[in-house]
Amino acid sequence: MEFFRGRRLRNTPALRDLMAETQINANDLIMPYFVVETDDENFKSPIASMPGQYQLSLKQLNETVKKAVGNGLKSILLFGIPKEKDPVASEAYNDNGIVQHAVRMLKQNFPDLVIVTDVCLCEYTSHGHCGLLKEGDKQGLVINDSTLELLAKTAVSHAKAGADIVAPSDMMDGRIHAIRTALDKAGFIQTPIMSYAVKYASAFYGPFRDAAESAPQFGDRRTYQMDFRNVSEAMREMYADIEEGADIFIIKPAGAYQDIIRMVYDRTDVPLAAYQVSGEYSMIKAAGINGWINEQAIIMESLIGMKRAGAKLIITYFAEELLEKGLVK
Ligand code: PBG
Repeated sequence: MEFFRGRRLRNTPALRDLMAETQINANDLIMPYFVVETDDENFKSPIASMPGQYQLSLKQLNETVKKAVGNGLKSILLFGIPKEKDPVASEAYNDNGIVQHAVRMLKQNFPDLVIVTDVCLCEYTSHGHCGLLKEGDKQGLVINDSTLELLAKTAVSHAKAGADIVAPSDMMDGRIHAIRTALDKAGFIQTPIMSYAVKYASAFYGPFRDAAESAPQFGDRRTYQMDFRNVSEAMREMYADIEEGADIFIIKPAGAYQDIIRMVYDRTDVPLAAYQVSGEYSMIKAAGINGWINEQAIIMESLIGMKRAGAKLIITYFAEELLEKGLVK
């Protein structure tokens, strides 16, 4: 034989399927939702920078999730938008807050649905930062250790409401330890923590901040989220989170960070979730709407890339649509 004939195994769809090493199924997908505290129970407001995504009242969330569960959705990630914001994010850890209400409602109506709650303060603070600030701070230098107490309180409050998994996305130092300790003390020994272990400061979150109304009013998040020029920093964050007791790791964003997904995969046995974030979604959607790309093909190619890199789970705004169209089962 004078050369390698790779084409032998590519000649028919059946052969290609037989040889396919990577698949996605419904058990891999987590769909994010934005629930708004509002008196208008029919509130369903399209997010301009994320075509196909909405801010939803409790009732509309219920309707939307009902349809998605009917199509095979198994897991969701919840973000809340409160009526009132203040400097100490009181609504984040209010047992009667919007996320807590939503969790109780969904748990009752869809007992088998896995509900993950995002644990962060940025949607609840008037200044839009992910934790507490010193009086007069105009840079967003979040005070680490006192923020930990509020994050832990928020996580416990979500667990009390019935959340299956809590997902801290704030990037404060020591939050996994603080949250694990608080959950255990409150009796939630069995509640897993899905840590945004490796979260870069990224312009890909732009559209999300419209959706969650959580853009910082001044400064940016670069004193707590990671510098995207760094790899070893991601490894240190990851080892810290293993030590502190995280059960699942999120790597975020996903598309531009597949080297990081693979590296974490190679170095640990902790299950990984890739978060295809708002900007990644919006870019694909926008090009699709314009007819510049084959949207469905690109969605699958982008998600398979994340799985190939080593992610077991994928958090993606495409989850609902993929199941509805039967592209993933
Ligand atoms: C909250 C949070 C953010 C995202 C998830 N949780 C925004 C941010 O850190 O600014 C981004 C998700 C997305 O872009 O889809 N801290």
